Amino acid sequence: MSTFPEDIFDLIAGIPQPVLIHSAEKIIFVNAAFVELFDYSRPEQIESRMMGEFIAPWRSARPRLGRREATGRKRSGGSIDIEISTLPIQVSENADITLYQSIIKDVTEQKNWEGAMLQSERMAAMGRLAGEIAHEINNPLGGILLYANLIHEDLAPESQARTNLEKIIKLATRCRIIAKGLLNFGRSSSKTYAPVDLNQVIKDMYSLVEDHKILTRVRTTFSLSKALPHIMGDKGQLEQVVLNIMINAGEAMKGQGKLDVTSFFSPEARTINIKFEDTGPGIPQEIRTRIFEPFFTTKQPGRGTGLGLSITHGIVQRHGGKIKVSGEAGKGACFELIFPVNISG
Ligand SMILES: Nc1ncnc2c1ncn2[C@@H]1O[C@H](COP(=O)(O)OP(=O)(O)O)[C@@H](O)[C@H]1O
Ligand SMILES: [Mg+2]
Repeated sequence: MSTFPEDIFDLIAGIPQPVLIHSAEKIIFVNAAFVELFDYSRPEQIESRMMGEFIAPWRSARPRLGRREATGRKRSGGSIDIEISTLPIQVSENADITLYQSIIKDVTEQKNWEGAMLQSERMAAMGRLAGEIAHEINNPLGGILLYANLIHEDLAPESQARTNLEKIIKLATRCRIIAKGLLNFGRSSSKTYAPVDLNQVIKDMYSLVEDHKILTRVRTTFSLSKALPHIMGDKGQLEQVVLNIMINAGEAMKGQGKLDVTSFFSPEARTINIKFEDTGPGIPQEIRTRIFEPFFTTKQPGRGTGLGLSITHGIVQRHGGKIKVSGEAGKGACFELIFPVNISG
């Protein structure tokens, strides 16, 4: 076997990029940057081990030349996304073994970032689609409800058809509520802001859902401030916000418990605060930051869309407001909406 020019080691040793010299299958030399990237403390812990232990996939029969993406296996067993560029090096004219030099680039962070970008674009696109579909469904549903109600009026109170029809109306109303929840995704914010009485919004939305099975057995109390200034806003959207939070509370409590709704005006902060406190399981700290993500749900497929809070968040933000989530896991959840008021207006 030919001798390897030692000075190339010195040359590579100080390069800030992780570099290694290897045969088709065995590692011969690694520099300090490589040792550090793979979480080892000394080159001897790596040298003379197999390439495949560190770089996957690795083809020992005929290493792939040029640049490609691969996975690096760290000492801890954890993996990193890497880019590896491999070139054969000429050792001497009649070398009996081909050696290669590979330069490694850690692209884990870049990958994560690209993934997140892609994810958020996909979310936005899916959200828009959901909004458009909801819009298409919402109108015929309105017609179904209208005609069902007309028939309902004509039926004798004791008829079986009447009970069945009432079920249809209830279910269609449920669909309407879901569709309404999705509608905003398709719309960009309409700038039709007018004075809105949030207390009224709360009462209207409660009357819409109080007979819904998720809330019929929930004791709901209201302490609504009589001196609540109006805010400039989009009433339809604010209705959705209140609806989403109330339904979530009912769902979290599995239809049984207590929901306290409070509204007050804080003259110092010049804000209107609306609080929804439930006696459900609360929200574990680990998922607290994720509940506003589109499509994040802890509910079974078919149950939750994961869109409610992301829509809610978007609407509140467009109104210049904030949402505060509190409550310990196991002790119920509290969603507080904080809207700025411009009293001079
Ligand atoms: N009042 C609440 N109590 C406990 N968890 C809640 C509450 N409201 C929302 N969550 C959590 O936030 C998640 C996301 O809510 P949301 O965006 O409305 O989607 P969905 O209701 O379809 O699951 C829920 O799946 C649930 O885990
Ligand atoms: Mg929801």
